[in-house]
Amino acid sequence: MSGKKIIIAIDGYSSCGKSTIAKQLAARLGYNYIDSGAMYRAITLFFLRNRINFENAEDVANALNDIEISFRYNEEAQASDIMLNDEDVSIPIRDMLVNENVSQVAAIKQVRAFAVAQQQAIGKGKGIVMDGRDIGSVVFPEAELKIFMTADPAVRVMRRFKEMYVTNPHITIDEVRHNLELRDYIDSTREESPLHKAKDAIVLDNSSMTREEQLDKVMHWIAERTEKAPATA
Ligand code: CDP
Repeated sequence: MSGKKIIIAIDGYSSCGKSTIAKQLAARLGYNYIDSGAMYRAITLFFLRNRINFENAEDVANALNDIEISFRYNEEAQASDIMLNDEDVSIPIRDMLVNENVSQVAAIKQVRAFAVAQQQAIGKGKGIVMDGRDIGSVVFPEAELKIFMTADPAVRVMRRFKEMYVTNPHITIDEVRHNLELRDYIDSTREESPLHKAKDAIVLDNSSMTREEQLDKVMHWIAERTEKAPATA
């Protein structure tokens, strides 16, 4: 593909495979992959550990002042680890307790402003794939390619259950289903940047697609968009 680089924004419901395709694309294109959800998860982990009252705006503002988030590329995993004040929190941010609180934290206006400013700074150089809930609508409304991913809820529950079972064999399918339904509901109905399909996003329903089929389809869309993009400085 040409030396031109674009921004790829992938949004959608929980557990529909956004990070899988985003990682594949980043590896294929030599782009940087940013998991914006990991940032909301890291902020949530900090709030929980420090017993921050989410409902108190002053406590939230003070806590955000104490948080520094960065990504560190991990050669072995071929993905970035997320650092919270110099601690690698890639594993603890996937805990059920974080799952249970992250959507409430991500609905807070100050939290979103804090995370979005960092996401926009990271994307300045283009050549980026970012996934989340508001990437095409708020973070990069000018992204050359916007994908809105979706998959059958039952398929999503089983994918997430299998993922979580590896580190938590006590987890039940019902717990996973309940958490996904609740987060999707909060994420889509919140006042601040709710999850919705940007009008220029392409819908990708991958319920019955293999990873290869999905990658081929998206690579085709990227080739079209990259062709039209101006040369990257
Ligand atoms: O992996 P999964 O799709 O379940 O979630 P995630 O991408 O790790 O995001 C965790 C939570 O962060 C979501 O349920 C949203 O509440 C929030 N989030 C958001 O509000 N905006 C984003 N751009 C990304 C995530």
